[in-house]
Amino acid sequence: MYAPYPENMMESIKKVEATRAERMSTEPRRLTADEKDALLKEFHPDYNPDAFAEIKVGPNKGEKAPLELANILHSTSRILNEDIDITKVDYDVDVLVIGGGGAGSSCAIEAHNAGANVMIVTKLRIGDANTMMAEGGIQAADKENDSPVQHYLDCFGGGHFAARPELVKRLVMEAPDAIKWLNELGVEFDKEEDGRMITTHGGGTSRKRMHAAKDYSGSEIMRTVRDEVLNLGIPVIEFTSAVELLKDEKGQAAGAVLVNMETGDYSVARAKTVVIATGGAGRMHYQGFPTSNHYGATADGLILGYRAGAPLLYQDSIQYHPTGVAHPVQIQGALVTEKVRSVGAQLVNAEGEAYIHPLETRDVNASGVIRECSEGRGVEAPSGQKGVWLDTPMIELLGGEGTIEKRIPAMFRMYMNYGIDMRKVPILIYPTLHYQNGGLEINGDGFTNAIPNLLVAGEAAGGIHGRNRLMGNSLLDVIVFGRNAGKKAAAKAKEVELGTPNLDHLKAYADELNAASVDTGDVSPLLLPRYARHER
Ligand code: FUM
Repeated sequence: MYAPYPENMMESIKKVEATRAERMSTEPRRLTADEKDALLKEFHPDYNPDAFAEIKVGPNKGEKAPLELANILHSTSRILNEDIDITKVDYDVDVLVIGGGGAGSSCAIEAHNAGANVMIVTKLRIGDANTMMAEGGIQAADKENDSPVQHYLDCFGGGHFAARPELVKRLVMEAPDAIKWLNELGVEFDKEEDGRMITTHGGGTSRKRMHAAKDYSGSEIMRTVRDEVLNLGIPVIEFTSAVELLKDEKGQAAGAVLVNMETGDYSVARAKTVVIATGGAGRMHYQGFPTSNHYGATADGLILGYRAGAPLLYQDSIQYHPTGVAHPVQIQGALVTEKVRSVGAQLVNAEGEAYIHPLETRDVNASGVIRECSEGRGVEAPSGQKGVWLDTPMIELLGGEGTIEKRIPAMFRMYMNYGIDMRKVPILIYPTLHYQNGGLEINGDGFTNAIPNLLVAGEAAGGIHGRNRLMGNSLLDVIVFGRNAGKKAAAKAKEVELGTPNLDHLKAYADELNAASVDTGDVSPLLLPRYARHER
């Protein structure tokens, strides 16, 4: 018998196998709204009161944030006491894009195409970003049985009716064009033989509108937009991080102070418009969760914008993807794409029960996994991590032999590296920190209201998804809001009269921290995870 797991896990698998035939003929029912609310309140980590702190300074003073985020909001600027000559300008551009992921790259492409002199700075390499890590797909209502209105309803409802309507409207209305743009740039979307895009469901979607490139959709999209940036000759300053924004005497964004991540040398970029596209925060490891995020996801853009005076929105709302790897320990927290459920795998507890519908929204399914494990219906891996099963052999039974290798080849390879053949045995999963639902507040055109000429795009922006994002709406938002920010930033740069750049807001923020008697002893932005090797 094929037995890639220890005895206790194999014992549980016998129960999973015993119920499989019946489970395949009766899909678990959907939860009612009241049942979902009760599940979330009891088990979702956002409802853990001990994991949040009150923000003591800045525009969101008095609101709550995860402890780790509150800590960086309460920390001192890295350059408060540095002697940096900001009159010596190293880079002078129309549009400065901070971040080299999907949003930053799409933004730079459109700004360039609109005739702006645009530059990307990125603390690692272009493409070291959560876009690259995205797997399952990108939503767009571009088929006959679907419409942006339907997409809007799914997104708005899935986000608990908290999303900003003008942002959701832009997201869904511009989605079909985003797919067309990517397709024409060269993204290898999955297609039928006649050329039509193959689309599937994600959690909370009422139509099959998930376009994918197998189960490495993000890396395929990132490859394409990165190539376009490089082909267009857009300057990309790698291993260089923005550490603070510059403002002028009119309070407008005026550029940024940069640090070379290798040498520690500072430089100054002056810009007529600045776009924060720094991505997410998974490497903050809120509540001790492992993460599916890339190494640089440390919420840098949030503190840059916040210290300069831009408010946050829904900073207390975090997405835990229901299916992170629980075993083997070497890849704990890595993403097991929702597409595994889209193509047929059920969530099954230690007793072999399909205790929930596999395509409930993410917050609901994550809470369900946590409930099963905390109420004794989880399976314990050798590391001590508990999890529930994702019954992957069902995929081949439903879709035919070869479906796994064809539709989710990266998942297949990832598990085969550890001797686990997901065609034959289920895989053990537990929620992983995946996405920040909130971020810097923007208007429909991507501008912050508080700081003229400062825009935000991608995961650093808040309000697009409300308090829970649906699968495939993040790859979509980096393209839609990235492109839009590039166009708007380029247009705005034509009319901006820049004053003299200053860093006065750093002193004002430090004074506010002092007045509130807040002293974390830390500096921010973090730039790298706390467990990074700091050689300087
Ligand atoms: O499950 C996934 O493939 C993740 C997709 C997303 O976050 O949009």
